[in-house]
Amino acid sequence: VYVIAMDGPAGSGKSTVARAVAARLGFDYLDTGAMYRAVAFAAIRRGLDPEDRDAVAAMIDDLELDVSLAGVTVDGVDATVEIRSPEITRAVSPVAANPVVRTELTRRMREWATRREGCVVEGRDIGSVVFPDAQLKLYVTASVEVRARRRHQELSDMDYDEVAAAIAERDERDRSRSNAPLVEVDGSVQLDTSDRSVDELVDAVIDLWSEAGEPS
Ligand code: CDP
Repeated sequence: VYVIAMDGPAGSGKSTVARAVAARLGFDYLDTGAMYRAVAFAAIRRGLDPEDRDAVAAMIDDLELDVSLAGVTVDGVDATVEIRSPEITRAVSPVAANPVVRTELTRRMREWATRREGCVVEGRDIGSVVFPDAQLKLYVTASVEVRARRRHQELSDMDYDEVAAAIAERDERDRSRSNAPLVEVDGSVQLDTSDRSVDELVDAVIDLWSEAGEPS
């Protein structure tokens, strides 16, 4: 299977670029952040404390998750919109730091990929942990101001300072956790999205892919 791994912090523009690259190449696309968000959603829905490692671990094995371009369902319930809410965004960090959750979701990501010819997978640990043999690894970044501005535009009910603080806090948690932190791995290519258009970025990734991804 051909894998393009795209990792990077919140609001870096990963999803937009990843989806467009997948469409151009005819590859499948997987948003692994949506999978972690879906688990956080399930925990809240069951009345669990997202920080309670054992309780969250106990529900993960038979949790039915469906994450695709069409949306997200959790045990058959549509959660496409809810998983983006500030409540779930706050709950996702402790859920993503839970080793049992990470092991199970990583297993599901790999299993998903075995049924594909080519895929674009985005997240935090895709090039480092989930698919260390990916043919192309991208580390997608943007300045913290640009990232906060993008998120602020998506979330009309929060003010800019609140959004910027929440992003900075989640980045810090993602970078400093002991299990599969966000890192820039050796061999990854940095893609700064601060002041380039989506079309330019997609063209740049397609160029990198034609250099890196051809079968040798
Ligand atoms: O879209 P946004 O950048 O806000 O975040 P996301 O990609 O939806 O991911 C939400 C959270 O899930 C991240 O802050 C990470 O804590 C976690 N995550 C992870 O730990 N590993 C991944 N491969 C993807 C997401």
